[in-house]
Amino acid sequence: MSDGKTKIGEVVQAAVSAGIHVKLSLGGPEEIKTGYPIIVEGEKYDFYCIVMDVYNPGVPVVDAVATSPLGRAAIPAVSPGMQTGYLGNIFYSKVLLEPIQIIDKKTSELGEVETIPQYFAEVRFATADDVKAIYQPTRSSMPIGNLRGIPEFSIPIDFEKLTEKSFAILGRTGMGKSFLNKIICNFILQTGVASVFVFDMHGEYGMFSSTDHSKGLKFYFPEKVEWFTLDPKRNHDAAPFFIDPESITPEDLILALPDLSQRMQDAIWEINKARGKNDVLTAINLAESGDTVPESTLHGLQARIARLERMDFIRPAPKSMREDPFNTILRRVKESKSIVLDFGKYGKDSMVYLFVANVISRRLHEIYTDEKGEDLPRLVIFLEEAHKFLDPKVADLTIFNVLAREMRKFNLVVALIDQRPSRIDDEIMSQLGNRMILSLKESKDLDHALSGLPKAAVWSNIVQTIPARTALIVGDAVRVPTVIEIMDYSTIQKHLEKTPSGKKKLTAEDIGKITKNADKIISSID
Ligand SMILES: Nc1ncnc2c1ncn2[C@@H]1O[C@H](COP(=O)(O)OP(=O)(O)OP(=O)(O)O)[C@@H](O)[C@H]1O
Ligand SMILES: [Mg+2]
Repeated sequence: MSDGKTKIGEVVQAAVSAGIHVKLSLGGPEEIKTGYPIIVEGEKYDFYCIVMDVYNPGVPVVDAVATSPLGRAAIPAVSPGMQTGYLGNIFYSKVLLEPIQIIDKKTSELGEVETIPQYFAEVRFATADDVKAIYQPTRSSMPIGNLRGIPEFSIPIDFEKLTEKSFAILGRTGMGKSFLNKIICNFILQTGVASVFVFDMHGEYGMFSSTDHSKGLKFYFPEKVEWFTLDPKRNHDAAPFFIDPESITPEDLILALPDLSQRMQDAIWEINKARGKNDVLTAINLAESGDTVPESTLHGLQARIARLERMDFIRPAPKSMREDPFNTILRRVKESKSIVLDFGKYGKDSMVYLFVANVISRRLHEIYTDEKGEDLPRLVIFLEEAHKFLDPKVADLTIFNVLAREMRKFNLVVALIDQRPSRIDDEIMSQLGNRMILSLKESKDLDHALSGLPKAAVWSNIVQTIPARTALIVGDAVRVPTVIEIMDYSTIQKHLEKTPSGKKKLTAEDIGKITKNADKIISSID
């Protein structure tokens, strides 16, 4: 093996359909882990592989002597590495590799895996040079972490491609979804490929995170980010946000209010039909029971909407304000600004979150589909607890069902963040352009998270075994499926300083758009 490269074993079995089995010559199996990048050196090609499984094959003598001190004494050196004999190690471990790409040794061209290496082909850890050949950075790429097993090699993710279609960040609770999400938001703004809309339930994205005091999007991108709050009493730095009761629809109520009986839902529609000039909340309060809405149903409904009415942010904008904050947000979005909406004291109430996210996203959907001709700026809406909006029980009522499926052509995409992928519709999963999958254990969740991927069963093994803050990334933002150790958020500043923000050069098309907008502004002044 050429210099500086560590041989780890030789090929003993291989099939295009079933991967490559390698007998290890390492001191022990603990030196290699699932997800590590490995090179198998064939004759014509280097096979770039990922470790899918590490295992000790069954050996009859081990079965016979295990647990028996006498038997063990008969085999003097039990440590596998020391049991070398005429035939190599007597006790050895194996790894199962999944070839991801083949690299032509002469031309360095990459190709799909259509063949296998011969018996005894040498196997080694991939080096940064091997990896570089696979992951070439692009104009709009930023690294979100390093390749598992090679700390010195960071993996570039193409943010232009990432934000072209809806994507998902999936993983068990506490595995690092929100931190990864924050890294991604920063890099979207840094590369200038899109703007973001974040519903900030726990005050983590604004100036400083209220949970760990790390710097947020408003800190790093004060010019690009507009900061609003539902709770101006607590957050004096962000602009207050209100929802005018006029803009609330029956769907918003049915989605947000828990435990509405079918009768109460029907009552909302009935009352809405006859509400005249009243908004739907007022209409429910003023409604009288009758043939269509029985008294007990009406009282139950009124008691439930009272919860919403207690929210200070549901009210018309004060007269002293020049513009309704809702309109301000929509205008800012059109101007390519990103929005962080701080929930303040309402952050713990999932009803408020469902309600607000749905009301706002519905309006965004309206303006993005209404003004098709006008090419609005690309916007990514980040949605934590996505299953709450995409659960088959409520999916028809929420706008996210539509957004996740078909909004790509309108430049509006959603990023779904969720710990229970099994509760997200398979069809929505299949529409996603990219998936970032952190540790998952339950087989139902694994199946859904990986549904539709080639060799899903093989990846499932990796996703089940990776530790926290490690993600399998699959989709068009990376060349090949890759297991990444996510960077520590505290190092992000270094990356933001390295590349000038919004380094994307203006294209002729961009300049055209700017001129068009400028014309509009000027003509509106006249
Ligand atoms: N990239 C990172 N940099 C620094 N700390 C991290 C990172 N990822 C995770 N952590 C640590 O792990 C903790 C859990 O991560 P995070 O809040 O992102 O998990 P989560 O998957 O969003 O969990 P939940 O489903 O409960 O929201 C964080 O509070 C933080 O301390
Ligand atoms: Mg989280």
